[in-house]
Amino acid sequence: MVKVNENFAKMPGSYLFAEVRRRTNAYRAAHPDADIILLGIGDVTLPLPKACVEAMKKAADEMGKAETFRGYPPEFGYDFLREAICENDYKKHGAPIEADEIFVSDGAKSDTSSIGELFSLDNVVAVCDPVYPVYVDSNAMCGRAGDYIDGKWSRVVYMPCTKENNFMPALPEQPVDMIYLCFPNNPAGVGMTKAELKKWVDYANRTGAVILYDSAYEFFITHDDMPHTIYEIEGAETCAIEFRSFSKTAGFTGVRCAYTVVPKALVREGVSLHALWSRRQSTKMNGVSYVVQRAAEAVYSESGQAEVKAHIAYYQENAAVIREGLEKAGFEVFGGIDSPYVWLKTPDGLSSWNFFDLLLDRCHVVGTPGSGFGASGEGYFRLTSFNTHEKTREALERIVRAFRG
Ligand code: MLT
Repeated sequence: MVKVNENFAKMPGSYLFAEVRRRTNAYRAAHPDADIILLGIGDVTLPLPKACVEAMKKAADEMGKAETFRGYPPEFGYDFLREAICENDYKKHGAPIEADEIFVSDGAKSDTSSIGELFSLDNVVAVCDPVYPVYVDSNAMCGRAGDYIDGKWSRVVYMPCTKENNFMPALPEQPVDMIYLCFPNNPAGVGMTKAELKKWVDYANRTGAVILYDSAYEFFITHDDMPHTIYEIEGAETCAIEFRSFSKTAGFTGVRCAYTVVPKALVREGVSLHALWSRRQSTKMNGVSYVVQRAAEAVYSESGQAEVKAHIAYYQENAAVIREGLEKAGFEVFGGIDSPYVWLKTPDGLSSWNFFDLLLDRCHVVGTPGSGFGASGEGYFRLTSFNTHEKTREALERIVRAFRG
């Protein structure tokens, strides 16, 4: 008889955002008249930039004609997109990355969970706590995380990020091999400075660890001393893999396009990780559709960039509305300046899930409980700025009415 992957049996509960959706739907079913506002999962609401839509239409027309039809796309991405990414996201920032080190994919979620395949199951994983749950869950599913005991995985090194350390992880005291960092941070919403990131790059180069750097929110950075890519930091190309996405910048959550950078200089035990990822992708990936890659290329056009900037400014305005509203309502508030996420301390020592229920019941607003991102997220709560201006303002008016002392 077949044996199933026993690691799945160790997984606690459901995936965080599935659980938030389940509870929201249950509330909706019990209160059909409630006008629920979603500030939970970071899903965008603004439509695609016009430049992207036009590029998709043009590409779709090309696909409908024999002379311009294309079959399987190249598994690592079309050159036109890899070059546009390289020029705009790396060369312009002085980062020493070449187009053939960029691998186009369907999403940073898939890439951050698949990257573990390149590494031995014996490696020790370090994550910030709280953290985007995909990093931990994907390592647990393949058996690298050990056992789930009292809310923690036995082989994972958790680096607490709380208000006491300004949500900045400290370098681990014990040896670690794979270090997941996400800055600007999801969920705590803070950015990391170049000086701070340099400590991690130096640490990884010194110890032979690899940094898995999720930079999905770099477009939200407002401070000059924060890097837009880890490769702005000297030495990062010998210790870091970077993940980027068009989801939050250009509204591609439903279109699906992202990319991962694996520098050729990144070698461990004499093995090129670039070669391993190439081998993995060419075996398991059939590329991203031509239409979608043309849309992504259009993000870098002059009008595409102008529209993307306007989108980000729109969400940043929402983040400011959330921050101000929460402060007015008496909450302790963090993040939301270099990131689309606002992080708050729950009132009166309420647990994160109890606050979820309270907010849903009193304000009909859905957020994400901090404990869903890890034990150190307990007592915190996340709101996203990706809804519309109208709904965001309405949500915060309700919160102020309900909670102001
Ligand atoms: C989030 O809300 O944390 C993100 O939207 C999840 C994701 O990007 O998969």
